[in-house]
Amino acid sequence: MSAQIRLVEITDANRDAVVAVRVHPAQERFVASVEKSFADARDNPEAKPWFRAACDGDVPVGFVMLSWDNVPGPGLCGPYFLWRLLVGAEHQGRGHGRAILDEVVALLRAAGATELLTSCVPGEGSPEPFYRGFGFVPTGEVDDDGEIILRLELGSRP
Ligand SMILES: CC(C)(COP(=O)(O)OP(=O)(O)OC[C@H]1O[C@@H](n2cnc3c(N)ncnc32)[C@H](O)[C@@H]1OP(=O)(O)O)[C@@H](O)C(=O)NCCC(=O)NCCS
Repeated sequence: MSAQIRLVEITDANRDAVVAVRVHPAQERFVASVEKSFADARDNPEAKPWFRAACDGDVPVGFVMLSWDNVPGPGLCGPYFLWRLLVGAEHQGRGHGRAILDEVVALLRAAGATELLTSCVPGEGSPEPFYRGFGFVPTGEVDDDGEIILRLELGSRP
């Protein structure tokens, strides 16, 4: 069971520790690093990037980035799109990934959102079973990069 996970703003005080959160090398084909995520956020303001560190106590164990209330269009899923989710290699398998999504769902509901979209690379080692286990369902669509699109009805969560 995960300890209490808190989603924390990234500041000069915690940035280096958050950037140091890395997945297993074999998982790097499924998700970009925290550093790359900062660059993507900076370069794509129209995607309305929103990101937080996930902390167990004061220790950053994960990172999450959404496209938050964007205007969907070519190359832009939305209005709410889970853009990055990662848990550090040594912290995986303890419920942190699910706890991060629980926190995100609570924030989205408070903002009046009804669904969250995401995408993932299918295949061996893919996070697809993790997302399905949480309640995401494939929409049947595939994006330009060959990633499958999944939807979570926020009302389907307890
Ligand atoms: C996917 C990820 C965020 C899951 O985080 P985590 O903290 O290890 O997940 P949890 O411990 O909360 O797992 C919740 C459930 O999902 C299952 N699960 C987690 N990752 C899984 C995977 N890759 N394949 C199948 N099941 C998985 C767990 O076994 C657990 O199942 P249970 O409820 O039956 O016990 C983490 O493995 C990760 O960072 N992976 C690399 C980056 C990545 O692929 N991110 C997604 C980008 S699209």
